[in-house]
Amino acid sequence: MTALRTPFTELLGIEHPVVQGGMMWVGRAELAAAVSEAGGLGLVTALTQPTPADLAAEIARTRKLTDKPFGVNLTTLPSINPPPYDEYRRAIVDSGVTIVETAGSSPEPHMDFFHEHGVRVIHKCTSVRHAVKAERVGVAAVSIDGFECAGHPGEDDIPGLVLVPATADALSIPFIASGGFADGRGLAAALVLGADGVNMGTRFLCSAESPIAEEVKRRIVAATELDTNLIFRPLRNTARVAKNAVSDEVVRILNGGGSFPDVRDLVAGSRGRRVFDEGDLEAGIWSAGLVQGLIHDVPPAGEIVTRVVREARAALGAVLAKFGG
Ligand SMILES: Cc1cc2nc3c(=O)[nH]c(=O)nc-3n(C[C@H](O)[C@H](O)[C@H](O)COP(=O)(O)O)c2cc1C
Repeated sequence: MTALRTPFTELLGIEHPVVQGGMMWVGRAELAAAVSEAGGLGLVTALTQPTPADLAAEIARTRKLTDKPFGVNLTTLPSINPPPYDEYRRAIVDSGVTIVETAGSSPEPHMDFFHEHGVRVIHKCTSVRHAVKAERVGVAAVSIDGFECAGHPGEDDIPGLVLVPATADALSIPFIASGGFADGRGLAAALVLGADGVNMGTRFLCSAESPIAEEVKRRIVAATELDTNLIFRPLRNTARVAKNAVSDEVVRILNGGGSFPDVRDLVAGSRGRRVFDEGDLEAGIWSAGLVQGLIHDVPPAGEIVTRVVREARAALGAVLAKFGG
């Protein structure tokens, strides 16, 4: 399939401007390799691996599955017992990876190290001001995550329809649009709004290579755009997760004046993992975006990449044809 070239694909040496966003417990070798092999950019999620040595092994496994470029997501969040980020960073560069997606906090503390080792950083953030700051500290590209997204949309609640063109007006480096994308109409729209590609999470979560229970994939296919909850709003650490009895309860407790210790057990990572590992949809909280409403199948990840690109080309041409352009 002919490459869909944009400044983002040229920067990274990939064929199509379609990225599989970092996903905790999901971004493993098979998924990342399938996306890259199809010409997109797959990302191995660093912290899914329990140690930096495990991450190095996962990168080696990915490289066995594809000789095309892939990257690593390094999510850095403030925490009481932070993971050894510097050791994960070291494992990434020692493994020869030259593309990193940072997310969570400012990439600034990592930039000198990544520059010294020839790494191009894509920083994912949820506001124009953070995107501008990321450009200033030297990232190569930005991934701008709108309010629609799974995971952490931030607190500004700006959907992509405004966030993407606002970002286009503010940046001079390549950037991709994230949050709410699942098909070629979305990619076409992102390009028209000024982005150089798209990042997708929920769409790739619901792919054949995604290493989660089939029950979760079936739930995503059955779900509509109404089936998410925003949890942790009163704590100003909002996360968009799938609607279930657990996330309903978390919203109820925190809206009723509860504090984090009151929901700590409900939101425990170990419970969320049971959803993905055992397919028990009510075991805990798990991330999913509004775009569930546009997802109707569970195709191979590579097919998602080629389908999205093919549909985007057709959509761009069809609109012009329809209106006599
Ligand atoms: C199950 C799941 C886990 C995720 N984990 C992470 C993560 O660890 N780090 C991160 O930067 N983003 C994470 N995300 C966010 C995605 O990378 C991406 O930004 C988001 O899904 C885009 O919105 P979409 O789902 O509408 O495509 C996760 C998303 C999902 C669905």
